[in-house]
Amino acid sequence: MQDLPLNIPEGSRKEVMTYLEPFMLNEMNEYLKPVEEMWQPADFLPDASRDTFFEEIRDLQDSAQELPYDLVAVLIGDTITEEALPTYESWLTMVDDVQKNEQGGWMKWVRAWTAEENRHGDLLNKYLYLSGRVDMKQFEISTQYLIKDGFDIGTGADPYRNFIYTSFQEIATNISHRRVAGMAKKSGDKLLAKMCGVIAADEARHAKAYMSFIAQAIKVDANEVLLAFEDMMRKKIVMPAHFLRESGEPQGEAFAHFSDAAQRLEVYTALDYIDILKTLNADWAIDKISALNEKGEKARDYLMKLPDRLTRLADRIKVPEIQYKFKWIYG
Ligand SMILES: [Fe+2]
Ligand SMILES: [Fe+2]
Repeated sequence: MQDLPLNIPEGSRKEVMTYLEPFMLNEMNEYLKPVEEMWQPADFLPDASRDTFFEEIRDLQDSAQELPYDLVAVLIGDTITEEALPTYESWLTMVDDVQKNEQGGWMKWVRAWTAEENRHGDLLNKYLYLSGRVDMKQFEISTQYLIKDGFDIGTGADPYRNFIYTSFQEIATNISHRRVAGMAKKSGDKLLAKMCGVIAADEARHAKAYMSFIAQAIKVDANEVLLAFEDMMRKKIVMPAHFLRESGEPQGEAFAHFSDAAQRLEVYTALDYIDILKTLNADWAIDKISALNEKGEKARDYLMKLPDRLTRLADRIKVPEIQYKFKWIYG
């Protein structure tokens, strides 16, 4: 974890987090669902105790056979990203200025959030296994590597940078799972479409939660939140799986190919990145925050102008047209 580049007045984050944690406890039920009401992977997967089990698997494999190659690649990248949940949970528990006990709002949130997220990798992993299109050993090697490699996302242990990053990422995963759902449906894989659809809905709820934490922090510490937001956007938000690799290949290389495939399919593009920034700017109404100091004003200016600047640059991004052959996928 790197040092924070800003001069944060000592103790101020701690005061804000002391104010935020009861808010998190109160708001949790708004953004999380009771376990008993939740969908589980078993709701969507063939049940091995049923007489129709093998028939259901044949149907699943027939539809999976029709999925475009790039879409399978993106689905695998998305799944490995979900499977690296231990990285995210351990990172969240390292956040500074929160209570480090199980009764605190932050720890309760982290555990409940992790429990919801854990279903995503669980469901997709089982689907990929049953689909017959995936070399599971290669997939598992990449997963083990990614968890072992961790990530370097530039937040340090700062709670503001952390909530800004998670707000951004939850929206990004919502977009990506939602688009994969749409494409799976088009290709005739209704089951996969349903799975990705319910996962996308979870991501949307989680995004709202993290966005509400930042909205709340803005109320009491607007300058510092804007400086943290500016800093994250200057560094650029990197994806949590940016170290993704295949067996025998350099760290991060599979991520580059996965990201190319996502852009070719328009599952997640540079324009989506800009749209997320616009969503955050609008949701946090940063144009309406008053009484900022000079640094805060400058940060706001930067953030307000950034979408247009990035839009001009986005035209120049060239995505390779040729599909990369992943070790993960048969055929
Ligand atoms: Fe997820
Ligand atoms: Fe998520």
